[in-house]
Amino acid sequence: MNKQDRIYVAGHRGLVGSAIVRSLKRSGYENIIGRTHSELDLKDQAAVRAFFDEEKPDVVVLAAAKVGGINANNTAPADFAYENMAIQCNVIGAAHDHKAKKLLFLGSTCIYPRMAPQPIPEDALLTGPLETTNEAYAIAKIAGLEMCKFFKRQYGDDFISCMPTNLYGPHDNYDLKGSHVLPAMIRKFHEAKVNGAPSVTLWGTGSPLREFLYVDDMADACVFLLENYSGEQHVNIGTGKELTIRELAELVRDTVGYTGTIVWDDSMPDGTPRKLTDVTKLHSLGFHHKVDLPEGIRLSYDWFRKNVDNARM
Ligand SMILES: NC(=O)c1ccc[n+]([C@@H]2O[C@H](COP(=O)([O-])OP(=O)(O)OC[C@H]3O[C@@H](n4cnc5c(N)ncnc54)[C@H](OP(=O)(O)O)[C@@H]3O)[C@@H](O)[C@H]2O)c1
Repeated sequence: MNKQDRIYVAGHRGLVGSAIVRSLKRSGYENIIGRTHSELDLKDQAAVRAFFDEEKPDVVVLAAAKVGGINANNTAPADFAYENMAIQCNVIGAAHDHKAKKLLFLGSTCIYPRMAPQPIPEDALLTGPLETTNEAYAIAKIAGLEMCKFFKRQYGDDFISCMPTNLYGPHDNYDLKGSHVLPAMIRKFHEAKVNGAPSVTLWGTGSPLREFLYVDDMADACVFLLENYSGEQHVNIGTGKELTIRELAELVRDTVGYTGTIVWDDSMPDGTPRKLTDVTKLHSLGFHHKVDLPEGIRLSYDWFRKNVDNARM
């Protein structure tokens, strides 16, 4: 890659896409191209081809996707499968036809089997049954990373994939119907503090173990891989550190400064019991995250308070 390259970031306004745009700019890349969902629906193959004809990007970062929490995945599996497969077929296909010199595909760790060995190495892929609550989304993502592998194998395209762990940070989605667990906790504790509520109810038992990565660290890892990695196998991106959802709740509660009680609604699903990425490969390539969870939550809460009027709620 060189600093004059025309870089198309699909999903440039999302949590991941906006962080990658910030990281590219920090690294001196200025020719960054973006289109909002309303300007360019990536499910529309003809529109995607016309966009590539017009813009001729040298590098493509595919950070656009239909994304959501357990509830959203559970209630709309067909939409998660179809929309994500359509987006990735159209963008990866057009990048190939327009001879883009590099493409980065973003999946997520839900691609791994429900009972994968922990921490989860890259080669645990397709070694067992998936977590049912987000199976449709996982299958779409597996299709995407395998497609990148096949374009590399058949045509030599330098299409790579990465699998970030759970992400959080600026521009996250705080809409409780579709958000992930960490932004949901920040909003619930904040509103309970503001309204003087005696307690906050959280989903599940609090016992699942999870890993969280600050999104700007994830974005720096993506730029690092764009510049330094051309392997066929996908690369996990994480911290290698985990905590229980109960410990996370206490960390967010204390960061927000809420003093009421936490109530656990164990009639709601916990999801997979443990999900920790093996980041040996990422570290061996020379990348290591910088922002640890307490600081990341503090930065995210600062962003939330400053943007509570225009955040996704
Ligand atoms: N969030 C996480 O914890 C996490 C963890 C691991 C991996 N990832 C990966 O990161 C990628 C992005 O996730 P995210 O968290 O950044 O999601 P996000 O904040 O919802 O961003 C997704 C972006 O894609 C756009 N988009 C969706 N459908 C589109 C379409 N048909 N045409 C054009 N644009 C479309 C959305 O625009 P609108 O909002 O306008 O629809 C949004 O800007 C996904 O591939 C996901 O697998 C995320």
